[in-house]
Amino acid sequence: MIPVYRPYTDGKEIEYLKEVINSGWWGLGPKTKEFEKKFAKYIGSEHAVGLNSATAALHLALKCIEVEGFEVITPSMTFVTTNHAVLYNGGIPVFCDITEDNLNIDPEKIEELITEKTKAIIVVHFGGYACDMDRIMDIAKKNNLYVIEDAAHACGGEYKGKKLGSIGDFGSFSFQAVKNLSTGDGGMLLTNNHEWFERLKKLRWVGISKDTFERGAGNSYDWFYDVTELGFKYHMNDISAAIGLAQLEKLDWMNDVRRKWSNYYRKELRGISQISYPPQKDYMFPACHNFVIKTTKRDELKNFLMKKGITTGVHYYPNHLYDMYEKYSRKLPITESIWKKLITLPLFPGMTQQEANLVIDSIKGFYTI
Ligand SMILES: Cc1ncc(COP(=O)(O)O)c(C=O)c1O
Repeated sequence: MIPVYRPYTDGKEIEYLKEVINSGWWGLGPKTKEFEKKFAKYIGSEHAVGLNSATAALHLALKCIEVEGFEVITPSMTFVTTNHAVLYNGGIPVFCDITEDNLNIDPEKIEELITEKTKAIIVVHFGGYACDMDRIMDIAKKNNLYVIEDAAHACGGEYKGKKLGSIGDFGSFSFQAVKNLSTGDGGMLLTNNHEWFERLKKLRWVGISKDTFERGAGNSYDWFYDVTELGFKYHMNDISAAIGLAQLEKLDWMNDVRRKWSNYYRKELRGISQISYPPQKDYMFPACHNFVIKTTKRDELKNFLMKKGITTGVHYYPNHLYDMYEKYSRKLPITESIWKKLITLPLFPGMTQQEANLVIDSIKGFYTI
């Protein structure tokens, strides 16, 4: 079977892992710090906090800006923890519709949702294709709102030459098993705000004022620490960071390969009138996390491809239609009509020409072209 995603390694991950395992320090320590520094520099943000997931990153970002009792404007077309993070903080998700072409939050529809209770906007760069950040930052500035970029799909992608995740107040990244940069599980939260950064380091480590590695620096081990607030066990460890460092070195190359296969799909599928795919806009340099096409015969195509040995996905079932989000549900005409047409094709850096051709020939076969 051809999978939808497959992580990529050139062996460096094992090399860096060996070093950490032999070092005797597997927890939160120097490799996490090194990864944070290098990742912050790569994205172009001042601070990065290594975490065990993007879910944790979104939870902590919204905690810093205290959304309890406030409204957060957010898309429904996303992985559900984008919105769980609002609820973890006692916030109220206010779902905003998306644009039909690239499945990103529709800036034209944000303003009409703003009330005196609105505190923030979450944007998801769907598939690694940038949201219209100038428009969104303008709206946020005018209305005094925070912007959180959920860049789980967007590691290495850009908007007008700026790395995604560096534009809003926070950039949240996922290093889960199938992401552009993967550590198995992991995440990073980026910000330029020093005060938030200092607080985040405590919040990720149960509220402890100084982490174990810092207390052990020098010749002695300072056992005492204070606990200054109710934090969480959300920190990254050095085993994940070692894999992350190896992945970061080849991230641009892996994204180039993703772009190459995405363009190949575009070129080869161009003639099929029944399907459409994400448009490339001038302001985008996409990370090409996934390749999502739209077709009116989604389920038939999915079953047909499965029989040919090709796995596909559906990203996403709209969050506002989940049982537990019923209370926050509202009419979202584009989201509600479009999700039934979406199908995610295989796309990953190690994909072979033979695999890409099998996908394309099978789709052409289905539409008898
Ligand atoms: C858009 C989006 N946001 C958030 C997340 C959560 O990431 P993690 O699995 O690292 O918690 C994901 C993961 O799939 C995602 O796709």
